[in-house]
Amino acid sequence: MTTNIKPKTIFTGDNLPIMRGINSESIDLIYLDPPFNSKTNYAAPIGSKAAGAEFKDTWTLSDVDNAWLDLIETKHPALNRVIHAAMTNSDKSYLIYMAVRLLEMKRILKDTGSIYLHCDPTMSHYLKLIMDAVFGKGSFRNEIVWYYKGNSIAKKLFPSKHDTLLYYVSQNPTFNPIYVPYAEATLRRYNHTDEDGRRYKISALRDGKQEKVYMGDGKMVDSVWDIPVIRKKNERTGYPTQKPLALLDRIIKASSNKGDVVFDPFCGCATTLVAADRLQRDWIGIDISGKAAELVVERIKADQGLFQEIIARTDIPKRTDLGNIPRYNAPANKTRLYGEQSGYCNGCGTHFEKQHLEVDHIIAENVGGTDHIENLQLLCSHCNRIKGERGQEYLISRLNKN
Ligand SMILES: C[S@@+](CC[C@H](N)C(=O)[O-])C[C@H]1O[C@@H](n2cnc3c(N)ncnc32)[C@H](O)[C@@H]1O
Repeated sequence: MTTNIKPKTIFTGDNLPIMRGINSESIDLIYLDPPFNSKTNYAAPIGSKAAGAEFKDTWTLSDVDNAWLDLIETKHPALNRVIHAAMTNSDKSYLIYMAVRLLEMKRILKDTGSIYLHCDPTMSHYLKLIMDAVFGKGSFRNEIVWYYKGNSIAKKLFPSKHDTLLYYVSQNPTFNPIYVPYAEATLRRYNHTDEDGRRYKISALRDGKQEKVYMGDGKMVDSVWDIPVIRKKNERTGYPTQKPLALLDRIIKASSNKGDVVFDPFCGCATTLVAADRLQRDWIGIDISGKAAELVVERIKADQGLFQEIIARTDIPKRTDLGNIPRYNAPANKTRLYGEQSGYCNGCGTHFEKQHLEVDHIIAENVGGTDHIENLQLLCSHCNRIKGERGQEYLISRLNKN
């Protein structure tokens, strides 16, 4: 399936409704670096390129939309169990927020696709279970440790100097092994050179024989990545939590090919998008902060020249992969839903004759809800009026108050 989003598009807005408007199985690689549940609110320093950028990373149940809970409870029992294993309401809220977004990422990822979830030890243990529940345990490939060294003021514990990348794949993932130069000690062991200039060593004596063992292309990168935090002034934007280009460069080279679509739903100051652009991949980014769109344009133009066509959007895209689905209120939809709900209104739970029920969007159209039957329900006209253009969660909270 091809994507319905033009390459080099940056969206400003909440990524959930925007992802709901992206075609299924249309993305090759997803890297996400969401808030970590660090109980901190971030802001870029005044005077930096990113000044004005800020995001909150504190979570309470009031951040949770009832419709998300409803979706998880009714359709994703494994996810529901993981969320209920969390120890605090703050952790639960964070996991619910992440789970509904990861469900969309699973839907839009191609069957050759890969996903890297960047987190840290605050929530990595829960997020791994969430990833298992969404993508399947068999889709897990690596827990990558990004080791970034550095000084620390910690006195009563080991200084914490790594983040975690949870790497999962679809059925037939792209994977290009990455090699780095051998260590000096290894090079010293390959101490012969043949007539073509290729280095080799002589093997140990076995059955009275020795043979030439040629040196490979380098050492294959393993699951511990020693990549320094950003030191170069021209790379640093001041954006809180900015990640190094070298980290994204490695992920993109390993799990995509030229022309593939790389997607970052929490793109911050556009590190993924800049790295993808340099490697001739197409890219799509989303960030809730308008500063991200400004920075992506600035960084990519500075990097690649003024002629880059970058599309900045704030609307919710329309999926083009649903085929000719009937209008939401078509009689066939109504008949099917009437059977599925056994004639009961999905709001107040009262039984009605079919003609007294109306077809309604569970996720409103204005936040990315589709006319697909999965997103439809029957409500009595009273509940439908209360709900209006708002979501199902609004209706339920209003009914609970009465
Ligand atoms: C950890 S930062 C990402 C940093 C990024 N990797 C970089 O190198 O700059 C997380 C980002 O997620 C964004 N964000 C938080 N909630 C969001 C949401 N619901 N939809 C889209 N972006 C969101 C924040 O504005 C912030 O820029």
